[in-house]
Amino acid sequence: MLFDTHVHLNADQFNEDVEEVIKRALEAGVENMVVVGFDRPTIEKAMELVEKYEFIYASIGWHPVDAIDMTDEDLKWIEELSSHPKVVAIGEMGLDYHWDKSPKDIQKEVFRKQIQLAKKVKLPIVIHNREATQDIVEILKEEQAAEVGGIMHCFSGSAEIAKECVEMNFLISLGGPVTFKNAKKPKEVAVEIPLEKLLIETDCPYLAPHPYRGKRNEPSYVKLVAEQIAELKGLTIEEVAEATTLNAKKLFGIN
Ligand code: NI
Repeated sequence: MLFDTHVHLNADQFNEDVEEVIKRALEAGVENMVVVGFDRPTIEKAMELVEKYEFIYASIGWHPVDAIDMTDEDLKWIEELSSHPKVVAIGEMGLDYHWDKSPKDIQKEVFRKQIQLAKKVKLPIVIHNREATQDIVEILKEEQAAEVGGIMHCFSGSAEIAKECVEMNFLISLGGPVTFKNAKKPKEVAVEIPLEKLLIETDCPYLAPHPYRGKRNEPSYVKLVAEQIAELKGLTIEEVAEATTLNAKKLFGIN
């Protein structure tokens, strides 16, 4: 039983064969997944998927790269949708300093507004961080995000930062990069962060694990992430699968 906490089955890369991809996920032991929408079209598609498949849940928010496009109406719309019983988190949200489409101050404002929304509707948040760790940690503290907690999605920082996030009521989600031979930091995080604070994800279609690196990722590959964590922690894959599934269900309020 595996829980893939971050999928983009709503991405165009799955337009042709999403049903087969979902079938392969079920065959690989993936019991649940959270499909993440981060703008109008991907949120709409995420909602279609949760209506169609009972084991799929949604997280909805606005991506920092496109922060400059988010209007007050968009935020209001996300708030309205968040009362849907299968919307289990707000995000992905955060900061991305790799791309400069949206200026930093606008990214920060849109990030803060979404944290405030999540606190209002009492849902955990899903954090996207690219080259912005310091500012993210600062904003999470200032906005008292610990009140709702959430997920550091596809975490790539140090074990030290991971521990700081855990103290702020966040779970650390590891994805494909933990399987890369040269990925020192994610492997350290897998070793040092206790199992009850870890989640697994694919972030598909991006970041496929070894040996599929560079190819289209899909939820069935989340098993490879669980296997790698098990190996690093000296546990069985069943132990990792069971614990990370339980962590996810607890966070998302899924019985
Ligand atoms: Ni994502």
